[in-house]
Amino acid sequence: MNAADIQIRPLTCRIGAEISGVDLFRSIDADVFRILHDALMEHLVIFFRDQDITHEDHLRFGRLFGDLAIHSGVAGLPDYPEIVAIHADGRSKFVAGENWHSDLSCNECPPMGSILYLPVVPEIGGDTLFSNMYSAYEALSPRMKDLLTGLTATHDGEHVYRPIVNDPTRRFPCNSHPVIRTHPVTGKKCLYVNSSYTTRIDQLPKGESDALLQFLYVHCMNPNFQVRFRWQPRSVAFWDNRCTQHQAVWDYFPQTRSGFRVTIAGDRPF
Ligand code: SIN
Repeated sequence: MNAADIQIRPLTCRIGAEISGVDLFRSIDADVFRILHDALMEHLVIFFRDQDITHEDHLRFGRLFGDLAIHSGVAGLPDYPEIVAIHADGRSKFVAGENWHSDLSCNECPPMGSILYLPVVPEIGGDTLFSNMYSAYEALSPRMKDLLTGLTATHDGEHVYRPIVNDPTRRFPCNSHPVIRTHPVTGKKCLYVNSSYTTRIDQLPKGESDALLQFLYVHCMNPNFQVRFRWQPRSVAFWDNRCTQHQAVWDYFPQTRSGFRVTIAGDRPF
């Protein structure tokens, strides 16, 4: 594999690119790593097709980008605690990520990125939507940007994981983060609230907080900020959680969609 063979095809004007010419989980040299890293920074989510990977390959590829995080809500695989199964079939009562979210924004240091590999997907359906939170921030009026600057919001894992984790002794993370965060690599500002984890803007009374969050959630769902990824068996999606949100579409019940995700540790948002 050679850096010169890599092709990057943007999928929309604002977010998402499909990358070919890479056998992701074999030998990634420094040049290839730099190309993939820069593509992630530029396109926020990158997609790969026809990848054959083992759990070890998945972990190794993830570690190129940083330490791997253990999921703070659900258990990983017995022999691979950093890998969580993403699985739905005809017996499922819910699927992971059905509402817009940035992964584990309830953590004190939410993950920088996530890498999802799906060997099994339904013939039709099961897409994932991704939305660009730089664009969401930039599209706000100057007055709204001023209002949001300096505010923090609470992100709580309790109501997300309590219904699905059968252990009354478990405690789930709850942390406050800036409503507008700065991306540590690009230095750009992005909107950082999401309808799955965010419960409250800390400095506002509940009524004002609810109304403002509702406005921001709808704003973030603007199709102008989005890409919709159509999976094929053995596709990989790698997204930057700091500047995106995503939503898994469960329109394929009772068919099976199944695979594995690793998350890369991140920094405390600022
Ligand atoms: C997730 O939120 O990580 C799941 C995304 C998906 O299944 O498409």
